[in-house]
Amino acid sequence: MPKKSIIAGNWKMNLTLTEVHDFFQQLSLPPQCPHKIILAPQAPLIPIVTNHVQKLPISVAAQNCSFEKKGAFTGEVSAEVLASLGVEYVILGHSERRQYFAENEDLLSKKIRQCLESKLSVIYCIGETLTERNSGQLQNVLKRQLTCLTEFSQSNQWEQLILAYEPVWAIGTGQVASLEQVQEVHQFIQSTFKDSYPHVNLPPILYGGSVNALNAQDLFTLPAVAGFLVGGASLKPKDFSTILSVQ
Ligand code: PGA
Repeated sequence: MPKKSIIAGNWKMNLTLTEVHDFFQQLSLPPQCPHKIILAPQAPLIPIVTNHVQKLPISVAAQNCSFEKKGAFTGEVSAEVLASLGVEYVILGHSERRQYFAENEDLLSKKIRQCLESKLSVIYCIGETLTERNSGQLQNVLKRQLTCLTEFSQSNQWEQLILAYEPVWAIGTGQVASLEQVQEVHQFIQSTFKDSYPHVNLPPILYGGSVNALNAQDLFTLPAVAGFLVGGASLKPKDFSTILSVQ
């Protein structure tokens, strides 16, 4: 039986309005694509993408949201407004937000709460830097990053959570983690979950970090990999479509 899988494209701060139109003109989805497909454009382009995907089996994600519900928070975008625009998913905890915007577990748990309350699913990213991996900190770092999920483990919103393991050293570098490394870490996350939250279902665990048209198939065969969070290769309709054809 094919696995229930998710393939999400994180466009980051790329693709202009014109380029988004071009993307959809060139995108040809594989027939009967078995994967849940998600695209995350820059926030102002969300309505444009929502419009493009109206008749396509593609859901829209935001790349961030506010930690507060509403109010005097200049420049922020609320989960409630994202949901009202047809957004279904929000990417949170991405290493670029942790690195450049100092997002930590305290802040992220507030953001997760806002999303879940607005019925949005969360793609929660975790992953270690090369220094952390080389100094034997991998498991501790992942466990710390997972702590902000604890408060949701008793709630009926748990099923709205998706994880993405993204080793920081593999993001945008072309240096994909080896199959053994990915399988090993995904299994570690699975067993951490089973120990910490024995009463809940295991969330799907995506892999992200230099996934491309050439390596996606091999990565997808790993039993613990429930799909991908794709950055650079999701900007190219042909490559993204090839990634969507994995089975
Ligand atoms: P990449 O980015 O595929 O360009 O490495 C992945 C991500 O940041 O989600």
